[in-house]
Amino acid sequence: MFITLEGVDGSGKTTQAAMLARALGASAMTLREPGGTDAAERIRQLLADPDTPLDPIAELMLFCAARADLVSRVIRPALEVGRIVICDRFTDSTIAYQGVARGLGIVRVRELSEVATDGLVPDLTLLLEIDPAFGLDRAQSDDRFEAEGVRFQERVAEAYEDIARREPSRVVPIDATGTPEDVHALIMAEVEPRLPA
Ligand code: TYD
Repeated sequence: MFITLEGVDGSGKTTQAAMLARALGASAMTLREPGGTDAAERIRQLLADPDTPLDPIAELMLFCAARADLVSRVIRPALEVGRIVICDRFTDSTIAYQGVARGLGIVRVRELSEVATDGLVPDLTLLLEIDPAFGLDRAQSDDRFEAEGVRFQERVAEAYEDIARREPSRVVPIDATGTPEDVHALIMAEVEPRLPA
């Protein structure tokens, strides 16, 4: 089973991915995007550095390159042996950040993402919803996206809402304004009924 967590910067995905993995036990594994392989972690360092200028299409392709390596060498093999893979961000991040907030266009980003993932789509996507301004305060770091400011994060949030409206059976909005324990309980209520028997 393939579960992804999505949301604006500072929405608490990373904490929730760890809590979910702990609750699901040894068959679960957590990954983060971009990252999860040696090559993808090196791409992550480049993408995270706001002092390295990067053309938006180059940025898009680097996210896709990192994802292609992670999908083919880690996620697919894990799913094939029956593991529950929990991924902190996936294709919906690229649609929301590059496709919409950066303005590269959803169609183009979808096509490239499809190549990168070889068509792999999550079974369940948990969309952690908070006020983008609050998330930005909480995110604390200063990567190239957080440096874009609150309007950028608002465009990301709107793009996510749109994805959730289009794909309601895959994408479940979660109210992420409560304590980590509150949010975890909401997540478990969605995940448990969908677990493989
Ligand atoms: P992440 O480490 O999840 O940041 P945070 O924990 O602060 O939410 O992601 C790093 C940044 O990369 C984040 O600002 C979102 C951005 N991103 C994209 O723009 N496109 C993508 O495809 C992915 C996976 C991430």
